[in-house]
Amino acid sequence: MLLVTIVSVVLSSLTVAQPSPNETHLIATALLTKNNDSAFECWQLQTPFKRSSIPGISGTQSATISNVTNFAYTILPPRYDGGLHNAPVPQMVHFLSGLAHLTLPNDHSTDAFVVGGVGGLLFATDTTGTGHITRYPSDQETVAIAAPFADGIVPEHIVLNDGPCAGLQTFV
Ligand SMILES: *[C@@H]1O[C@H](CO)[C@@H](O)[C@H](O)[C@H]1NC(C)=O
Ligand SMILES: *[C@@H]1O[C@H](CO)[C@@H](O)[C@H](O)[C@H]1NC(C)=O
Ligand SMILES: *[C@@H]1O[C@H](CO)[C@@H](O)[C@H](O)[C@H]1NC(C)=O
Repeated sequence: MLLVTIVSVVLSSLTVAQPSPNETHLIATALLTKNNDSAFECWQLQTPFKRSSIPGISGTQSATISNVTNFAYTILPPRYDGGLHNAPVPQMVHFLSGLAHLTLPNDHSTDAFVVGGVGGLLFATDTTGTGHITRYPSDQETVAIAAPFADGIVPEHIVLNDGPCAGLQTFV
């Protein structure tokens, strides 16, 4: 049986910067396959935040991202080395605590640090090709939730730049 859940990111209206010009979009670093190599891009999701009418979060900003399957909660020990691997399936990973350091085997000039917390979002879609190396260098556990996209369908997005997103901002 396939368990399908809607993942939404909810932001209190107090924490949303005044959108410019008038729409706010989620942005996050993505790992993808380009010419058989894993690479980073900064993605902005096509679907903007909307004012929710769902009871309990009514009036707040909410962005519907995708349907997901096999949603998982993962606890990685301090200084864990995930080694070289591909994304098992196209998925959204959100690091809640700790620190992830992502490197590429064929591009030693590019890496990404993902800090657990509100800026801890990552789209991991490099299911083929050379893969990436993930290490968790902090002295604390890194907690991550992984949300594989239902049917492998990656949400529609535009590419803001090659390489990881700059800074810790998660919405523009
Ligand atoms: C943003 O502005 C455009 C044009 O003025 C309007 O069509 C659209 O509905 C606005 N979006 C939001 C989220 O207010
Ligand atoms: C990617 O790898 C496959 C299988 O090894 C190969 O057939 C293909 O030519 C490669 N594509 C590029 C763009 O290097
Ligand atoms: C999720 O699945 C439902 C039911 O099939 C569908 O109506 C909805 O559009 C899907 N949502 C997204 C974001 O793809």
